Amino acid sequence: MMAHPNGKTMNSIGFSKYGKPAQLKKMEVPYPHGFDASKNVVIKVHASSVNPVDKILLSGDLKLVFPVAEFPHVISYDVAGVVEKADSKGVFSVGQPVFARVWSDVDDDKKTPWFRGAMAEFCVARTSDVVTKPDNISFEEAASIPLAGMTAFQVLKESGLKEGNSVFISGGAGGVGTMAIQLAKHVFKAGLVVTTASKGEKMDLCKSLGADEVLDYKSESFVTAYGNDDSTKFDVCFDTTAEGLEMVKIIKEGGRIVSIAGTPTLDEIRRIGGTAWILKLFLKRKVKRKEYKAAQSMNANWTYLFLSPSHEDLSTLANHLESGVIKPVLDGVWDFHSEDSEDGWQGAFNRSFSGRAKGKCVVQISS
Ligand SMILES: NC(=O)c1ccc[n+]([C@@H]2O[C@H](COP(=O)([O-])OP(=O)(O)OC[C@H]3O[C@@H](n4cnc5c(N)ncnc54)[C@H](OP(=O)(O)O)[C@@H]3O)[C@@H](O)[C@H]2O)c1
Repeated sequence: MMAHPNGKTMNSIGFSKYGKPAQLKKMEVPYPHGFDASKNVVIKVHASSVNPVDKILLSGDLKLVFPVAEFPHVISYDVAGVVEKADSKGVFSVGQPVFARVWSDVDDDKKTPWFRGAMAEFCVARTSDVVTKPDNISFEEAASIPLAGMTAFQVLKESGLKEGNSVFISGGAGGVGTMAIQLAKHVFKAGLVVTTASKGEKMDLCKSLGADEVLDYKSESFVTAYGNDDSTKFDVCFDTTAEGLEMVKIIKEGGRIVSIAGTPTLDEIRRIGGTAWILKLFLKRKVKRKEYKAAQSMNANWTYLFLSPSHEDLSTLANHLESGVIKPVLDGVWDFHSEDSEDGWQGAFNRSFSGRAKGKCVVQISS
C-alpha cells in the first residue's frame, strides 16, 4: 500500500488476504492521500455499517469481477461523518455532516489505485456519491442507509411499482427488506405489501414498518399461500433471498420480479462495469437464467439488479428520512475501539455475517 508521504497513519478494519471473517483485523493504514482532490473529499468517519457483500468480498468470491486493487483492503461501503478535507471545486465544505456509499474506484487514475473502504477513522469518497446527512438522524442511523436504502429504492423503481399495486418482498427484516417495506408502502404507495420474516419480533417489526401481511417463512410457503389463485398474485416481487424462481408462481401475468440475491446476470455485471475479460468469456456462452425463462413462460418479467451508487437516489432518501416518511432500522451499534468479540467491532461483523440481523449492524468510530 502506497505510504503517506509524511508517514501519517490511521486505524481501520480490513484484511490482507482473501479468506474467512477471522481475516478481518484492526490495522494501521496510510492516511488518505494521492487521490484527485477535484473529485473527492476526505470524511472523518463517525459510523460505518456492515453489509452481506463485505463477507463475499472478503471471501474472494468477487475477485474475478471486482478484484481488490491493493492489500491491505479497508472494508465496508457505508459511511456517515463530517467532511475533513473539502474537494477543491468547493462542492462540500469542511465540517459538513454527510453520508455516502463509498465506491472502490475513487481515483480514476489506474496508476495510483486508491481502493479504500469506509470502516476507518477517515475515508475518501467521490463528491458525486456524497450527500448531506439529514439533521434529524444520528451518524449511526445515517451509516445504515446508503447501500441497503439505495438498493431497495432502485429495485422498486426498476420494478415499475405503481400506487395501489401489490408487492411481495422476501426477507422483510433484513437491511434491504426493512427499507423496501417502508419505501413500498409510504413512498410508492403500494396498495398491498406482503413480506416474509420469522415469527416474533421480526414479524412485528415488518408490520410496524408498513407491511400489510407477514408470512412466517419457516412454517409457511409463500407459493402455497399466494400461488394457487390468480387473484392473490402480485404485480411486483422483490427478491432479497434468492427465491426468484419460486416467485414466478406468485407473479401476475405482465408482472415483474427483481432479484438482488444470488448470482447476478452477466448483463447486470456489464452494466455496472465488471472486469471485461470475464464478461466476454461468459457472454460467449450466452448463459440464460432459469428465472428469466420461467418468468417469460408466464408472460412475466425477471431481472437482476446491482446497486449503482446515485447522488440523486441518496438525496431522495435523505429527504424521506428528513420528513420522517422512512426511518433507519438498526440491529445494533458496536464499538470500533473495542476488541471485545461481542461489544467490539467484531460483534457487528459476526451478527451481520450470521444472516440473522434485524435491520443494520453499525460500527461507531467516533462520537
Ligand atoms: N444486488 C445488490 O446490489 C445487493 C445489494 C444489497 C444486498 N444484496 C443481497 O441481498 C440480500 C439481502 O441483503 P440484506 O442486507 O437485507 O441482508 P441481511 O440484512 O443480512 O438479511 C438478514 C435477514 O434476512 C432474513 N432472512 C434470511 N433468509 C430468509 C428467508 N428465506 N425468508 C425470509 N427472511 C429471511 C433473516 O431473518 P431470520 O433470522 O429470521 O432468518 C434476517 O433478518 C443478500 O444476499 C445481499 O448480498 C444485493
